[in-house]
Amino acid sequence: MEELLLTKKHDEQRQGEAYLPSYNIAAKYSRLFYIESYGCAMNFSDSEIVASILSAEGFGATSRVEEADLILVNTCSIREKAEQTVRKRLTEFKKLKVAKPATLVGILGCMAERLKSKLLEEEKLVDIVIGPDAYRSLPGLILEAEGGQKGVNVLLSRDETYADISPVRLNSNGITAFVSIMRGCNNMCSFCVVPFTRGRERSRNAFSIIQECHDLFNAGYKEVTLLGQNVDSYYYTTDASATPVSFANLLESVAMISPDLRVRFSTSHPKDITDDVLHTMAKYDNICKHIHLPVQSGSSRLLQMMNRNYSREWYMAKVDRIREIVPGCGITSDIITGFCTETEEDNEATISLMKYGEFDMSYMYFYSERPGTLAHRRYKDDIPEAIKKRRLAEVVETQNKLSQDSNKKDIGKTFKVLIEGDSKKTGSDWKGRSSQNKVLVFSKANYDLHPGDYVNVKVNDCTQATLLGEIVN
Ligand code: SAH
Ligand code: SF4
Ligand code: F3S
Repeated sequence: MEELLLTKKHDEQRQGEAYLPSYNIAAKYSRLFYIESYGCAMNFSDSEIVASILSAEGFGATSRVEEADLILVNTCSIREKAEQTVRKRLTEFKKLKVAKPATLVGILGCMAERLKSKLLEEEKLVDIVIGPDAYRSLPGLILEAEGGQKGVNVLLSRDETYADISPVRLNSNGITAFVSIMRGCNNMCSFCVVPFTRGRERSRNAFSIIQECHDLFNAGYKEVTLLGQNVDSYYYTTDASATPVSFANLLESVAMISPDLRVRFSTSHPKDITDDVLHTMAKYDNICKHIHLPVQSGSSRLLQMMNRNYSREWYMAKVDRIREIVPGCGITSDIITGFCTETEEDNEATISLMKYGEFDMSYMYFYSERPGTLAHRRYKDDIPEAIKKRRLAEVVETQNKLSQDSNKKDIGKTFKVLIEGDSKKTGSDWKGRSSQNKVLVFSKANYDLHPGDYVNVKVNDCTQATLLGEIVN
């Protein structure tokens, strides 16, 4: 097979049709890769960049791991459990490697960055370890691995943003897409491993972002989500004299592509989201009225230990400001229970702040100490797991009630919904989301509609997680 492809390569070159790089990539045209992503949307978005880099090398994506020549796992280190999930998955790949020893296994992402070459020692089946800023070197590492040389590249960069790489959309519904606008994080929240695994914050070229969003819209996509760990600190400038592009400017430019292209963004840090951003949201109908505003804790003492740079009162004032400038805006959050020294009163403070914020939804976790973080070095992880979990259960219960209340308030209201596809449960219902990011399920009835269409839906009923409605004209 290799010989055949190689011959073809030389023929092509002789005819002057194509220039192919000197190393033997032609042999890989029949190769398949399989990629799994864990963790945040940024990781998923990175997998699409990796897919693009690999497709330029002649690798096609497969969703069937058994037929892959290259298995990639894009990993997350945010909590211990995230790493355990990956370790478990690797043991499953072991069987595949025994059956087909030529299969290469690569670990990508945050766990690769955190554990570096240790991963090669600990997980014998792994051939390649590659960190989030080193994906351009993947083809080279694959070549080496094929020659029997295991490879590691975990160099972090101050300027890599993969701006020029056009991502290959994976698992796409053809309607919604992620667009990465920045990488890394400079915040150093004491509990968080991200600054260590993703490096310094840097913003991607604004023109390449807008171009990518344009291209998506022209390809039929109707919604883009601009991604960064802290989107409000987006700041792009070509040189010192040029006018810098702020996040509000960027948001506006993307919103102006078309009123039919919805724009979302995540994540906003409460200390950085500006009135400018809120006013821009209010100005454009197609900028979705939803802010993911992780609070982490409702206790100012803990927020300080977490190095979040805002207090309980500041967060409350931010919620007020959002409600004032962007009426009806959905607010969702992230919460950690059982952080170092947390008392019952602190947990009560978190619960009361959740109620104040009337969060529509939250991602809730109990604290998981991460090696190397500020909290690991400075504080004792002193809350017993049983207490962390009990407090988490209280927080979850509070959120369930808040979600239920928030959904009940929507009964009788009509929302403009972007249809994303069939509802999971039945083919006779559509599923889509409102601007506020709530999921709506509604009967297709006799309307001739398709995924990607906008439709007005009146809410008649709800569950804790979903609004149920019907199409109205
Ligand atoms: N950049 C985002 C968060 C990214 S990590 C922000 O600043 O809000 C996603 C969430 O994981 C965090 O908001 C936090 O709630 C949670 N998290 C991060 N580190 C954690 C840890 N060590 N233990 C438990 N949860 C953690
Ligand atoms: Fe982690 Fe804080 Fe950065 Fe979010 S802002 S990624 S929680 S360090
Ligand atoms: Fe996880 Fe890395 Fe994202 S640690 S949450 S995959 S930035």
